[in-house]
Formats: sequence, C-alpha cells, structure tokens
Amino acid sequence: MIKIYINNKFLQYACNTKNKISIFPYRKYIFKHEILWIRSKCAFIAPNILLILLFLLNEKNPCGIITATLNSACLIKSKGDLIMSRKITFGIIGVGNMGSSHMRSFMEGKLPELELTAVADINPERLEWAKEQLPNISVFNTASELIHSGKCEAIVIATPHYDHPPIAIEALKAGLHVMTEKPAGVYTKQVREMIEVASQTDRTFAIMFNQRTNVVYRKLRELVQSGEYGEIRRVNWIITDWFRTQAYYDSGGWRATWAGEGGGVLINQCPHNLDLWQWICGMPNKIWATCHQGKWHNIEVEDDVTIYAEYPNGATGVFIATTGDCPGTNRLEITMDKAKIVCENNEIKLYVLDESISKFTYEAKLGFAKLKGQYVDVEITGESTHHPGVLNAFAANILRGEPLYAHGSEGINSLMISNAAYLSSWLGRPVELPLDEDLFYEELKKRIESSNAKKEVKAQVQEDMSSTYGS
Ligand SMILES: NC(=O)c1ccc[n+]([C@@H]2O[C@H](COP(=O)([O-])OP(=O)(O)OC[C@H]3O[C@@H](n4cnc5c(N)ncnc54)[C@H](O)[C@@H]3O)[C@@H](O)[C@H]2O)c1
Repeated sequence: MIKIYINNKFLQYACNTKNKISIFPYRKYIFKHEILWIRSKCAFIAPNILLILLFLLNEKNPCGIITATLNSACLIKSKGDLIMSRKITFGIIGVGNMGSSHMRSFMEGKLPELELTAVADINPERLEWAKEQLPNISVFNTASELIHSGKCEAIVIATPHYDHPPIAIEALKAGLHVMTEKPAGVYTKQVREMIEVASQTDRTFAIMFNQRTNVVYRKLRELVQSGEYGEIRRVNWIITDWFRTQAYYDSGGWRATWAGEGGGVLINQCPHNLDLWQWICGMPNKIWATCHQGKWHNIEVEDDVTIYAEYPNGATGVFIATTGDCPGTNRLEITMDKAKIVCENNEIKLYVLDESISKFTYEAKLGFAKLKGQYVDVEITGESTHHPGVLNAFAANILRGEPLYAHGSEGINSLMISNAAYLSSWLGRPVELPLDEDLFYEELKKRIESSNAKKEVKAQVQEDMSSTYGS
C-alpha cells in the first residue's frame, strides 16, 4: 500500500500487488485552480521497479504523464503539483546523546520524509525517556527485537562504535535500510564485512558524515578537486578544538577504553576530520604517527596525536589532534602547485599564484626570486544542513534514488587512517596503506586483553549536542 497525496493532503491508497499497481477509484479532484482527473491506471515492470503511468488531464488538454517507481515519493511538478508521497518508517538504535538528538530532529519536524516508529536501547531509562517524548512509538530492549519487529523499513544506529557493524549487518540481512553513525566501526576488518553484506543487498546504506554538508568544506573540496590549481604538495590540519573534560570521559562506561570504545580522540572526535581530509585530498599511502595515551586525562587511550602522511603523488601531510587544548585551533592549509588554500574560522582564503611552483622553481633566473600571486575572493553559498540534512538525503535515496552525502562503504577510509595511526604508534614505525588488517586487529586485541580501565561512571545525556559536532 502506498498513499497518494495531493497538496500534502491524504487522498487515497494505491494498491500494490506484486508487480502491479492500480489506482482506485476514478474520481474527480479539485486542486488549486484546476480540475484534474486521474484518467488512467496501471502498470508493471521488473521486480522492484514499478512504473505508474497516470495521465493527467485538465479540462481541455492532457497536461502530463507521470512515471514513478513504486518505492518513490514523487513530487510531481507537472501542471498542478500532484504529490504522491509516503514516509519511510525508521527506528533509532541507541537513544543516548546522539540517538536522542536524531529523535529531537524528528519531533521538531526536520525530517519530513521519515516517520519514527520505534527505538531500541539496552538501558530501560532511555526507553522510558523516549516513550515520554513520543508515546506512540514502540520500544525494544535490543537492536535485534527492533530489527525483526516489522515496525521499521530503516534504522539509524547510534550505539557505541563496536556495535555499528554487527547491528548494520543484521539489519541489512533483514532487508532494512541502514544509516550508521560515525565511525563505521572500530577496526577495518569488521567494517569490511559490513560493506560486503551491504554490497549484496539493494538496501540503502549510509554513514552520518554530517560535516560533508558543511558548505565551507564542500567549497574547499570543489576548489581542490577542480584541477585548476594543480596537484596537492602539502596538507596540514591542526584540529585541536575538541576539548573534553574528565567528566566527559566519565559519562559513559564504554568511553575512552580499548574494550568499550577502541580508541580516543581519533576514533571518537576525529572521524569527521579524517573523513573530510580524505574526501578533500584523497587517501594517503603511508602513515607515521605518535598517539599519546592519557596525556591530558585519566584515560587509557590517546588524547593527543600527531600523524605524518605521505600521498601517492609525493605530497605530504600532517594532522594534529587533541582533546586537551583550550582554546584549540582548527586550521586546514592546503598547498597546491598553483595556489594556497587556508580554511580557518569558517572562512576560506585562496591565494592564487601567477604560475605553478614546480615550473617557477626551475625556470626563475634569480636564486631568491619569489613567485607572485593574489588573494581571490571565495564565495560560499548554501546551508550546512548537518544531521537532519544527512537523514533527509538518506530518505530521499530510499524513496527516489537521490544522492547520499556519504555511502556507508566510504566509512572505511577514515577508519583505515586512524587504524594505521594506532598501529604505527604501537609498533614505532611507518605503516603502508592499505593496512595489514589482521595485524591491526591482533594488536588491538592485546590492548583490550591487557586493559585495566576501571571507571566510575557518571552518566549524562546532553540536551544540546551541537558542541560535539566540531567545526
Ligand atoms: N555524527 C556526530 O556528530 C556524532 C556526535 C556524537 C556521537 N556520535 C556517535 O554516536 C554514537 C553514540 O554516541 P553517544 O555519544 O550518543 O553515546 P551514548 O553513550 O550517549 O549513547 C549510546 C546509547 O546506546 C545504548 N546502547 C549501547 N549498546 C547498545 C546496543 N547494543 N543496542 C542498543 N542500544 C545500545 C546505550 O544504552 C546508550 O543509551 C557513537 O558511535 C558516536 O561516535 C556521532
């Protein structure tokens, strides 16, 4: 059954049999200033794609033929705005800080094509909270119960990271669409399995890289990838404005332990930055890193990191991150052959050189000659839609095949960089990418087994999550 709406008002049901759809009964509808009849019904095609042909007639002339896939909510802009729409029912697994923020987005009407029907959490208090907010939703004590409940077509996974892949795999196998929170998982071996399962289904599989909606980074990527400024020579990102207190680390038993979280600043705060880094500049092929564990906090995992990276074209990069600096810095510098781009304080400064550095270096006659250039204004337009934007794109992808901000399989890239940084730091040597995934997992297991983290947990769920999204 799908619902047909005109001007957002529910009109009638369309009946979906296996490979057929019929619209019933013929009726006359008044809409805006025109009278339209749904004149004809029908159709068919291959499994999964049902074609609906509706001949719309105004009083005199045919004014449009609508074709739509059955699982589409189609917004039809032929004469008279017929809207055939349905919402995707979805469930949230894990309604702690991030999961409740997604739930609030729904309650605030920011997710027009999603309908929250269920939540699952292993903590009964969180389920009680969810039920108080939305008494009509179903609540479940486990992810499995929600997945097999038949209440949802899609899920959003907002549990601690280790559980993202197993929950996603179970849901994909059960035929659900999946949006996983970042990071994709804790180790690439685990994430690779999830990607493999996703590739064998036709379900939508996405990851919450909300910083990809940030118009500043979108513009930066466009500049770097335009080809206009030549190849990247150097990239430096100082991203130290992730300050966290000890109270933050004490707020969840899983946080900042090898067994519960699988890392510190790199696995929790930096997945966004590591994703943007590779999304804008491409993947490095070698990583050399130092990860200081418990340097600024009483935790067993890293809270201060310096990564040195090498790229296939010979470019180099440095990535510095910590949760210990206050005030921190967020400065991304990209030196290209014909330009230097600096991104800081939500601004992009673009300095375009008169000619390429590689050419000038060898062609200039004077030893101390300086290559000239000028600042060029960079116009940044649009809106950074963040988490609701990513969720709305997820719904639009399920309904109409529109593009995602990040396919779930892309989550492995940033994770590969952080896994390589840990491995390099643990072994005290550079690590080539792609990473030796078995070796990394063996080393991670050693840390989990020898962990003696004992936490006095003071649980907190934040009302306002915006400070956690980074800049
Ligand atoms: N995209 C972002 O900007 C962003 C921001 C913050 C957190 N996150 C991500 O969201 C995830 C959750 O982080 P958080 O800060 O909300 O943690 P949290 O501890 O506040 O919430 C996690 C919730 O999941 C529940 N849970 C744990 N295991 C579960 C399981 N197996 N099944 C069902 N429920 C389970 C817990 O009881 C808790 O309520 C993390 O992976 C984190 O990286 C993303």
